[in-house]
Amino acid sequence: MNQRLLFAGRPLGSAARFWLRLGGLLGRLLLGLVVLALLGWAASAAWYAWKFSGPVSAQEQVPPGEAAMTQSIIQTAIRIVDQHRENTRYLRDAHAKAHGCVQAQVQVAGDLPPALRQGVFSEPGKTWNGWMRLSNGNAYPQFDSLQDARGMALKLLQVPGAQLLPSQQARQEQDFVMFNHPNFFVSDVAEYQQNIAAQADGKKVLAFFPGWDPRQWQVRHLLIAFSTLSDAPDSPTQGTYYSVSPYKFGGANAKFRVTPEAGTCPAYSVPKPNRDLPNFLRGALYQQLSADRVPACFALQIQLQDASRYMPLEDTSVEWKQSDSPFVTVAHIKVPAQDFDSPEQNLACDNMAFSPWHGIEAHRPVGGINRLRKAVYDAVSQYRHARNGNVAP
Ligand code: HEM
Repeated sequence: MNQRLLFAGRPLGSAARFWLRLGGLLGRLLLGLVVLALLGWAASAAWYAWKFSGPVSAQEQVPPGEAAMTQSIIQTAIRIVDQHRENTRYLRDAHAKAHGCVQAQVQVAGDLPPALRQGVFSEPGKTWNGWMRLSNGNAYPQFDSLQDARGMALKLLQVPGAQLLPSQQARQEQDFVMFNHPNFFVSDVAEYQQNIAAQADGKKVLAFFPGWDPRQWQVRHLLIAFSTLSDAPDSPTQGTYYSVSPYKFGGANAKFRVTPEAGTCPAYSVPKPNRDLPNFLRGALYQQLSADRVPACFALQIQLQDASRYMPLEDTSVEWKQSDSPFVTVAHIKVPAQDFDSPEQNLACDNMAFSPWHGIEAHRPVGGINRLRKAVYDAVSQYRHARNGNVAP
Protein backbone atom coordinates (compact mmCIF):
# COMPACT_ATOMS: atom_id res chain seq x y z
CA MET A 1 0.00 0.00 0.00
CA ASN A 2 1.40 3.41 -0.89
CA GLN A 3 1.60 5.36 2.41
CA ARG A 4 1.56 9.12 2.02
CA LEU A 5 3.15 11.53 4.51
CA LEU A 6 0.67 14.12 5.74
CA PHE A 7 1.23 17.52 7.34
CA ALA A 8 -1.86 19.32 8.82
CA GLY A 9 -4.01 16.76 6.94
CA ARG A 10 -2.48 17.53 3.55
CA PRO A 11 0.00 15.31 1.66
CA LEU A 12 3.62 16.54 1.62
CA GLY A 13 5.41 17.44 -1.60
CA SER A 14 8.36 15.34 -2.80
CA ALA A 15 10.98 17.96 -1.73
CA ALA A 16 9.58 18.07 1.82
CA ARG A 17 9.51 14.23 1.93
CA PHE A 18 13.16 14.17 0.83
CA TRP A 19 14.26 16.60 3.59
CA LEU A 20 12.28 14.73 6.22
CA ARG A 21 13.91 11.41 5.25
CA LEU A 22 17.37 13.03 5.18
CA GLY A 23 16.72 14.54 8.62
CA GLY A 24 15.68 11.12 9.97
CA LEU A 25 18.79 9.51 8.49
CA LEU A 26 21.12 12.15 9.95
CA GLY A 27 19.40 11.85 13.34
CA ARG A 28 19.99 8.07 13.38
CA LEU A 29 23.60 8.61 12.28
CA LEU A 30 24.17 11.12 15.08
CA LEU A 31 22.61 8.78 17.64
CA GLY A 32 24.87 5.96 16.39
CA LEU A 33 27.93 8.17 16.76
CA VAL A 34 26.94 9.21 20.30
CA VAL A 35 26.44 5.54 21.29
CA LEU A 36 29.79 4.64 19.71
CA ALA A 37 31.56 7.48 21.53
CA LEU A 38 29.99 6.44 24.86
CA LEU A 39 31.05 2.81 24.30
CA GLY A 40 34.60 3.95 23.41
CA TRP A 41 34.75 6.17 26.50
CA ALA A 42 33.48 3.34 28.75
CA ALA A 43 35.96 0.85 27.22
CA SER A 44 38.95 3.22 27.62
CA ALA A 45 37.88 4.15 31.18
CA ALA A 46 37.71 0.43 32.07
CA TRP A 47 41.07 -0.21 30.37
CA TYR A 48 42.78 2.67 32.21
CA ALA A 49 41.18 1.64 35.53
CA TRP A 50 42.70 -1.83 35.00
CA LYS A 51 46.06 -0.59 33.71
CA PHE A 52 46.43 2.20 36.31
CA SER A 53 45.90 0.11 39.41
CA GLY A 54 48.37 -0.87 42.14
CA PRO A 55 50.41 -2.42 43.52
CA VAL A 56 53.59 -1.04 41.91
CA SER A 57 57.29 -1.56 42.56
CA ALA A 58 59.05 0.55 45.18
CA GLN A 59 62.35 -0.20 43.40
CA GLU A 60 63.70 1.22 40.14
CA GLN A 61 63.50 -1.06 37.07
CA VAL A 62 66.05 -0.12 34.43
CA PRO A 63 65.06 -1.26 30.92
CA PRO A 64 67.77 -2.47 28.49
CA GLY A 65 69.26 0.11 26.11
CA GLU A 66 68.68 3.15 28.34
CA ALA A 67 72.35 4.25 28.29
CA ALA A 68 72.48 4.29 24.46
CA MET A 69 69.18 6.18 24.24
CA THR A 70 70.56 8.73 26.72
CA GLN A 71 73.57 9.41 24.47
CA SER A 72 71.29 9.99 21.50
CA ILE A 73 69.11 12.39 23.56
CA ILE A 74 72.21 14.39 24.58
CA GLN A 75 72.99 14.92 20.89
CA THR A 76 69.43 16.11 20.24
CA ALA A 77 69.50 18.43 23.28
CA ILE A 78 72.74 20.01 22.06
CA ARG A 79 71.21 20.40 18.61
CA ILE A 80 68.35 22.35 20.26
CA VAL A 81 70.82 24.56 22.16
CA ASP A 82 72.62 25.31 18.88
CA GLN A 83 69.31 26.12 17.16
CA HIS A 84 68.37 28.72 19.78
CA ARG A 85 71.52 30.69 20.50
CA GLU A 86 70.80 34.28 21.40
CA ASN A 87 73.45 36.50 19.81
CA THR A 88 76.66 35.09 21.19
CA ARG A 89 75.20 33.38 24.23
CA TYR A 90 74.25 29.74 24.46
CA LEU A 91 71.10 29.26 26.52
CA ARG A 92 69.65 26.33 28.42
CA ASP A 93 68.09 23.56 26.31
CA ALA A 94 64.88 24.05 28.32
CA HIS A 95 63.65 26.85 30.58
CA ALA A 96 65.92 29.27 28.73
CA LYS A 97 64.18 32.46 29.89
CA ALA A 98 64.45 33.47 33.55
CA HIS A 99 62.14 35.90 35.30
CA GLY A 100 64.85 36.29 37.90
CA CYS A 101 67.12 34.53 40.33
CA VAL A 102 66.20 35.49 43.87
CA GLN A 103 67.61 34.65 47.27
CA ALA A 104 65.43 32.34 49.35
CA GLN A 105 65.40 30.93 52.86
CA VAL A 106 64.08 27.43 53.47
CA GLN A 107 63.12 26.63 57.05
CA VAL A 108 62.44 23.02 58.02
CA ALA A 109 59.01 22.71 59.69
CA GLY A 110 59.38 22.96 63.47
CA ASP A 111 56.79 20.25 64.15
CA LEU A 112 58.06 17.71 61.60
CA PRO A 113 57.25 14.12 62.74
CA PRO A 114 60.39 11.95 63.24
CA ALA A 115 59.61 9.75 60.17
CA LEU A 116 59.83 12.83 57.91
CA ARG A 117 63.15 14.08 59.31
CA GLN A 118 65.23 12.99 56.31
CA GLY A 119 68.21 14.51 54.49
CA VAL A 120 68.07 18.31 54.47
CA PHE A 121 64.87 18.08 56.55
CA SER A 122 66.58 16.23 59.44
CA GLU A 123 66.63 19.16 61.84
CA PRO A 124 63.27 20.82 62.59
CA GLY A 125 63.53 24.61 62.59
CA LYS A 126 66.85 24.74 60.68
CA THR A 127 67.07 27.47 58.02
CA TRP A 128 68.95 26.94 54.75
CA ASN A 129 70.00 29.83 52.55
CA GLY A 130 69.55 29.32 48.83
CA TRP A 131 68.70 30.55 45.36
CA MET A 132 65.48 30.29 43.40
CA ARG A 133 65.38 30.61 39.60
CA LEU A 134 61.94 31.22 38.06
CA SER A 135 61.58 30.53 34.36
CA ASN A 136 59.46 29.85 31.29
CA GLY A 137 59.77 26.30 29.93
CA ASN A 138 60.43 27.05 26.28
CA ALA A 139 63.80 26.32 24.64
CA TYR A 140 64.20 30.00 23.69
CA PRO A 141 62.92 33.22 25.27
CA GLN A 142 59.49 34.32 24.10
CA PHE A 143 56.68 36.63 25.28
CA ASP A 144 55.33 35.62 28.71
CA SER A 145 51.77 35.84 27.34
CA LEU A 146 52.39 32.76 25.16
CA GLN A 147 51.24 29.44 26.55
CA ASP A 148 54.14 27.63 28.23
CA ALA A 149 55.22 25.65 31.28
CA ARG A 150 56.64 27.73 34.14
CA GLY A 151 59.64 26.48 36.08
CA MET A 152 61.03 26.87 39.57
CA ALA A 153 64.49 25.64 40.49
CA LEU A 154 65.56 25.88 44.12
CA LYS A 155 69.11 25.44 45.37
CA LEU A 156 70.00 25.01 49.06
CA LEU A 157 73.58 26.02 49.89
CA GLN A 158 76.22 24.66 52.28
CA VAL A 159 74.61 21.24 52.52
CA PRO A 160 77.02 18.83 54.23
CA GLY A 161 77.65 15.27 53.04
CA ALA A 162 78.80 13.55 49.85
CA GLN A 163 77.21 14.86 46.64
CA LEU A 164 75.60 12.33 44.27
CA LEU A 165 77.82 13.23 41.31
CA PRO A 166 81.49 12.33 41.86
CA SER A 167 82.58 15.31 39.75
CA GLN A 168 80.54 17.80 41.79
CA GLN A 169 81.82 17.21 45.33
CA ALA A 170 82.70 20.90 45.81
CA ARG A 171 79.07 21.98 45.39
CA GLN A 172 77.52 21.25 48.82
CA GLU A 173 74.08 21.86 47.31
CA GLN A 174 70.62 20.33 47.26
CA ASP A 175 68.54 21.33 44.23
CA PHE A 176 64.80 20.90 43.69
CA VAL A 177 63.86 21.27 40.00
CA MET A 178 60.15 21.67 39.20
CA PHE A 179 57.53 23.00 36.81
CA ASN A 180 53.89 23.97 37.25
CA HIS A 181 52.20 20.75 36.10
CA PRO A 182 51.95 17.49 38.07
CA ASN A 183 52.77 15.06 35.26
CA PHE A 184 55.00 14.85 32.18
CA PHE A 185 54.06 14.36 28.52
CA VAL A 186 56.17 11.21 28.20
CA SER A 187 56.41 8.05 30.31
CA ASP A 188 59.98 6.94 29.90
CA VAL A 189 63.32 7.37 28.15
CA ALA A 190 62.39 5.44 24.98
CA GLU A 191 59.35 7.63 24.43
CA TYR A 192 61.30 10.80 25.24
CA GLN A 193 63.96 9.90 22.67
CA GLN A 194 61.38 9.51 19.95
CA ASN A 195 59.38 12.58 20.98
CA ILE A 196 62.25 15.06 21.37
CA ALA A 197 63.93 13.97 18.11
CA ALA A 198 60.67 14.65 16.21
CA GLN A 199 60.31 18.04 17.92
CA ALA A 200 63.92 19.03 17.17
CA ASP A 201 63.24 18.18 13.51
CA GLY A 202 60.20 20.49 13.61
CA LYS A 203 57.80 17.52 13.12
CA LYS A 204 55.46 18.14 16.02
CA VAL A 205 52.78 15.68 14.85
CA LEU A 206 55.28 12.81 14.72
CA ALA A 207 56.18 13.51 18.34
CA PHE A 208 52.90 11.95 19.50
CA PHE A 209 51.89 9.98 16.39
CA PRO A 210 55.13 8.29 15.26
CA GLY A 211 53.50 5.95 12.71
CA TRP A 212 50.29 4.62 11.19
CA ASP A 213 49.90 1.95 13.90
CA PRO A 214 47.28 3.34 16.35
CA ARG A 215 48.91 1.38 19.18
CA GLN A 216 51.81 3.86 18.98
CA TRP A 217 49.58 6.94 19.19
CA GLN A 218 50.00 8.87 22.44
CA VAL A 219 46.69 10.74 22.67
CA ARG A 220 46.74 10.88 26.50
CA HIS A 221 50.29 12.26 26.43
CA LEU A 222 49.34 14.84 23.81
CA LEU A 223 46.55 16.04 26.13
CA ILE A 224 49.09 16.30 28.98
CA ALA A 225 51.35 18.38 26.71
CA PHE A 226 48.43 20.68 25.84
CA SER A 227 47.49 21.20 29.48
CA THR A 228 51.14 21.79 30.47
CA LEU A 229 51.33 24.66 27.98
CA SER A 230 49.08 27.08 29.80
CA ASP A 231 48.51 30.80 30.29
CA ALA A 232 50.92 32.53 32.64
CA PRO A 233 49.82 33.30 36.20
CA ASP A 234 49.77 36.97 37.24
CA SER A 235 53.16 36.45 38.92
CA PRO A 236 55.68 33.60 39.29
CA THR A 237 54.91 33.81 43.04
CA GLN A 238 51.35 32.62 42.30
CA GLY A 239 52.17 29.19 40.86
CA THR A 240 52.37 25.69 42.31
CA TYR A 241 55.46 23.85 41.06
CA TYR A 242 55.79 20.03 41.01
CA SER A 243 58.83 17.74 40.91
CA VAL A 244 56.84 15.56 38.44
CA SER A 245 59.40 12.76 38.86
CA PRO A 246 60.11 10.84 42.09
CA TYR A 247 63.02 11.08 44.53
CA LYS A 248 64.30 9.16 47.53
CA PHE A 249 63.14 10.56 50.82
CA GLY A 250 65.43 8.68 53.18
CA GLY A 251 64.40 5.04 52.70
CA ALA A 252 61.06 5.96 51.06
CA ASN A 253 60.15 7.36 47.62
CA ALA A 254 58.39 10.69 47.26
CA LYS A 255 57.45 13.48 44.88
CA PHE A 256 57.57 17.07 46.08
CA ARG A 257 56.00 20.39 45.21
CA VAL A 258 56.21 24.06 46.19
CA THR A 259 52.97 25.95 46.64
CA PRO A 260 52.14 29.52 47.79
CA GLU A 261 51.53 29.63 51.53
CA ALA A 262 49.17 32.20 52.99
CA GLY A 263 49.57 33.32 56.56
CA THR A 264 53.37 33.11 56.80
CA CYS A 265 53.96 36.36 54.85
CA PRO A 266 52.14 39.70 55.00
CA ALA A 267 48.96 39.64 52.90
CA TYR A 268 49.67 40.90 49.36
CA SER A 269 47.56 40.95 46.24
CA VAL A 270 49.57 40.88 43.04
CA PRO A 271 48.57 43.83 40.84
CA LYS A 272 46.98 42.84 37.49
CA PRO A 273 49.88 42.70 35.05
CA ASN A 274 49.91 44.25 31.59
CA ARG A 275 50.07 41.02 29.58
CA ASP A 276 51.13 42.85 26.43
CA LEU A 277 54.55 43.45 27.94
CA PRO A 278 56.99 40.71 26.86
CA ASN A 279 58.45 40.20 30.36
CA PHE A 280 55.49 40.94 32.61
CA LEU A 281 56.35 37.99 34.89
CA ARG A 282 59.73 39.55 35.69
CA GLY A 283 57.84 42.84 36.18
CA ALA A 284 55.44 41.20 38.67
CA LEU A 285 58.36 39.72 40.63
CA TYR A 286 60.08 43.12 40.65
CA GLN A 287 56.87 44.86 41.74
CA GLN A 288 56.39 42.58 44.76
CA LEU A 289 59.97 42.07 45.98
CA SER A 290 61.78 45.24 44.90
CA ALA A 291 59.16 48.01 44.58
CA ASP A 292 56.52 47.05 47.19
CA ARG A 293 59.18 45.29 49.34
CA VAL A 294 56.80 42.43 50.24
CA PRO A 295 58.27 38.92 50.68
CA ALA A 296 56.78 35.84 48.99
CA CYS A 297 56.11 32.66 50.95
CA PHE A 298 55.69 29.05 49.87
CA ALA A 299 55.30 25.63 51.50
CA LEU A 300 57.69 22.87 50.40
CA GLN A 301 55.69 19.66 50.52
CA ILE A 302 56.31 15.95 49.92
CA GLN A 303 54.00 13.17 48.77
CA LEU A 304 55.20 9.74 49.94
CA GLN A 305 54.80 6.74 47.63
CA ASP A 306 52.35 4.07 48.78
CA ALA A 307 53.38 1.14 46.60
CA SER A 308 50.07 -0.64 47.20
CA ARG A 309 48.48 2.18 45.11
CA TYR A 310 49.14 3.15 41.49
CA MET A 311 52.10 5.43 42.22
CA PRO A 312 54.73 4.18 39.76
CA LEU A 313 58.40 5.21 39.77
CA GLU A 314 59.01 4.50 36.08
CA ASP A 315 56.17 6.45 34.44
CA THR A 316 56.28 10.26 34.76
CA SER A 317 53.05 10.66 32.80
CA VAL A 318 51.15 9.39 35.85
CA GLU A 319 50.15 11.93 38.47
CA TRP A 320 50.19 10.37 41.92
CA LYS A 321 46.68 10.88 43.29
CA GLN A 322 46.41 12.98 46.43
CA SER A 323 43.57 10.69 47.53
CA ASP A 324 46.18 7.87 47.60
CA SER A 325 48.77 9.95 49.46
CA PRO A 326 48.34 13.64 50.38
CA PHE A 327 51.10 16.27 50.21
CA VAL A 328 52.59 17.13 53.62
CA THR A 329 54.48 20.36 54.41
CA VAL A 330 58.11 19.69 55.40
CA ALA A 331 59.53 23.23 55.11
CA HIS A 332 58.54 26.85 54.65
CA ILE A 333 60.19 28.97 51.95
CA LYS A 334 60.55 32.71 52.31
CA VAL A 335 61.73 34.89 49.43
CA PRO A 336 62.55 38.15 51.23
CA ALA A 337 62.07 41.61 49.75
CA GLN A 338 65.20 42.25 47.67
CA ASP A 339 66.73 43.84 44.60
CA PHE A 340 67.49 41.14 42.05
CA ASP A 341 67.10 42.71 38.60
CA SER A 342 70.64 44.01 37.97
CA PRO A 343 72.75 43.16 34.89
CA GLU A 344 75.33 41.42 37.14
CA GLN A 345 72.76 39.26 38.94
CA ASN A 346 70.95 38.40 35.71
CA LEU A 347 74.22 37.23 34.16
CA ALA A 348 75.06 35.23 37.29
CA CYS A 349 71.56 33.75 37.09
CA ASP A 350 72.13 32.61 33.51
CA ASN A 351 75.42 31.10 34.59
CA MET A 352 73.94 29.07 37.44
CA ALA A 353 73.36 25.36 36.93
CA PHE A 354 70.50 23.48 38.56
CA SER A 355 70.06 19.73 38.30
CA PRO A 356 68.01 17.09 40.09
CA TRP A 357 71.39 15.36 40.58
CA HIS A 358 72.98 18.24 42.52
CA GLY A 359 72.25 16.86 45.94
CA ILE A 360 72.76 14.15 48.51
CA GLU A 361 71.89 10.46 48.68
CA ALA A 362 68.87 11.02 50.96
CA HIS A 363 67.15 12.80 48.02
CA ARG A 364 68.54 10.73 45.10
CA PRO A 365 66.40 11.11 41.94
CA VAL A 366 64.73 7.84 40.90
CA GLY A 367 62.97 6.53 37.77
CA GLY A 368 63.90 6.50 34.08
CA ILE A 369 63.31 10.17 33.28
CA ASN A 370 65.49 11.15 36.25
CA ARG A 371 68.24 8.69 35.26
CA LEU A 372 68.16 10.36 31.85
CA ARG A 373 68.38 13.84 33.37
CA LYS A 374 71.56 12.86 35.22
CA ALA A 375 73.65 12.81 32.05
CA VAL A 376 71.69 15.38 30.01
CA TYR A 377 71.70 18.31 32.47
CA ASP A 378 75.41 17.84 33.04
CA ALA A 379 76.24 17.63 29.32
CA VAL A 380 74.11 20.64 28.31
CA SER A 381 75.31 22.74 31.22
CA GLN A 382 78.97 21.97 30.35
CA TYR A 383 78.32 22.70 26.67
CA ARG A 384 76.73 26.11 27.19
CA HIS A 385 79.14 27.18 29.92
CA ALA A 386 82.19 26.29 27.80
CA ARG A 387 80.83 28.30 24.85
CA ASN A 388 79.87 31.24 27.06
CA GLY A 389 83.46 31.43 28.24
CA ASN A 390 82.77 30.13 31.74
CA VAL A 391 84.21 27.24 33.62
CA ALA A 392 81.13 25.07 34.30
CA PRO A 393 80.23 25.70 37.95
C1 HEM B 1 60.48 15.55 35.19
C2 HEM B 1 60.22 16.53 34.45
C3 HEM B 1 61.09 17.76 34.33
C4 HEM B 1 61.06 18.90 35.06
C5 HEM B 1 60.15 19.19 36.22
C6 HEM B 1 62.06 19.80 34.50
C7 HEM B 1 62.29 21.09 34.92
C8 HEM B 1 63.32 21.88 34.50
C9 HEM B 1 63.60 23.21 34.97
C10 HEM B 1 62.77 23.99 35.99
C11 HEM B 1 64.72 23.64 34.37
C12 HEM B 1 65.40 25.00 34.56
C13 HEM B 1 66.44 24.88 35.64
C14 HEM B 1 67.09 26.21 35.87
O1 HEM B 1 66.38 27.14 36.30
O2 HEM B 1 68.30 26.34 35.61
C15 HEM B 1 65.16 22.62 33.49
C16 HEM B 1 66.29 22.70 32.71
C17 HEM B 1 66.68 21.73 31.86
N1 HEM B 1 65.99 20.56 31.60
FE1 HEM B 1 64.38 19.85 32.57
N2 HEM B 1 62.69 19.17 33.47
C18 HEM B 1 62.14 17.91 33.33
C19 HEM B 1 62.50 16.96 32.43
C20 HEM B 1 63.55 17.07 31.59
C21 HEM B 1 63.97 16.06 30.70
C22 HEM B 1 63.31 14.70 30.48
C23 HEM B 1 65.06 16.53 30.05
C24 HEM B 1 65.90 15.88 29.00
C25 HEM B 1 66.49 14.80 29.19
C26 HEM B 1 65.35 17.84 30.56
C27 HEM B 1 66.40 18.63 30.18
C28 HEM B 1 66.73 19.85 30.71
C29 HEM B 1 67.95 20.58 30.38
C30 HEM B 1 69.04 20.12 29.43
C31 HEM B 1 67.91 21.76 31.12
C32 HEM B 1 68.98 22.88 31.10
C33 HEM B 1 70.15 22.47 31.98
C34 HEM B 1 71.25 23.53 31.99
O3 HEM B 1 71.72 23.88 30.91
O4 HEM B 1 71.62 23.99 33.09
N3 HEM B 1 64.41 18.15 31.49
N4 HEM B 1 64.29 21.55 33.60
